[in-house]
Amino acid sequence: MNKALVSLLLTLGITGMAHAAGDAAAGQNKVVMCGACHGADGNSAAPNFPKLAGQGERYLLKQLQDIKAGSSPTAQPGVGRKVIEMTGLLDPLSEQDLADIAAFYASQKPTTGYADPALVERGEALFRGGKLDLGMPACTGCHAPDGQGNDLASYPRLAGQHAAYTAKQLTDFREGNRMNDGEAAIMRSVAAKLSNKDIEALSSYIQGLH
Ligand code: HEC
Ligand code: HEC
Repeated sequence: MNKALVSLLLTLGITGMAHAAGDAAAGQNKVVMCGACHGADGNSAAPNFPKLAGQGERYLLKQLQDIKAGSSPTAQPGVGRKVIEMTGLLDPLSEQDLADIAAFYASQKPTTGYADPALVERGEALFRGGKLDLGMPACTGCHAPDGQGNDLASYPRLAGQHAAYTAKQLTDFREGNRMNDGEAAIMRSVAAKLSNKDIEALSSYIQGLH
């Protein structure tokens, strides 16, 4: 084997190690300070703090990386995802810590919630049908008909999430205050087609999905 190939294989091997799988048991010891907001098992009580229990592991890891990059006190505006409540919190954590934390929350059982019956019809129509006239795809195409998401593609689970949190995310995507949805800006272009009433109905419907 020539030297270039050997060093390439070594590099690949090392990169592979850096993406080591998360260990849920190790993760449990690393989330003590998160529980005050997100709940000990990732089912938060307050509606503005997202539930993390049962969320996809890949999606969680990506958010942790984005929040770490965007929420350090020295982060440049527009980098990653800014969560003011988590400012600097992830700075001391390594990539392995983040992977372990993602594995821990992914392994927890999510609680469900309720939808406002008055909003179900509108919420369900948008969730399952999109807005064909405006070219907005149905949410089910990526987040699955039951709202469980598709973790292989890093599409998050939505089912049972607090309506207040979901509504804030959709509004943030629409207003460009959350921009970590990739070069294709998938969620920013979806949310651009949603009115405030649409967001209210969708968020309530999603809270009741299970
Ligand atoms: C003081 C409260 C607070 C603490 C402590 C906190 N968080 Fe958060 N976290 C939030 C809020 C608020 C958001 C949502 C911000 C927004 O509206 O976008 C959030 C968002 C998240 C998300 C993104 C969820 C999603 O569905 O996209 C993850 C993952 C997360 N936190 C993990 C953690 C971890 C791990 C810790 C502990 C190391 C932690 N948080 C500590 C308040 C907190
Ligand atoms: C083409 C695929 C696609 C479609 C269609 C789509 N989404 Fe998403 N959605 C994504 C991806 C990818 C993300 C994660 C972005 C990131 O990495 O931060 C996401 C994130 C979200 C989040 C943030 C979740 C969290 O925990 O913070 C919400 C809420 C959401 N989508 C709601 C919807 C709703 C409601 C619809 C339909 C109106 C919809 N999405 C349509 C791909 C899609």
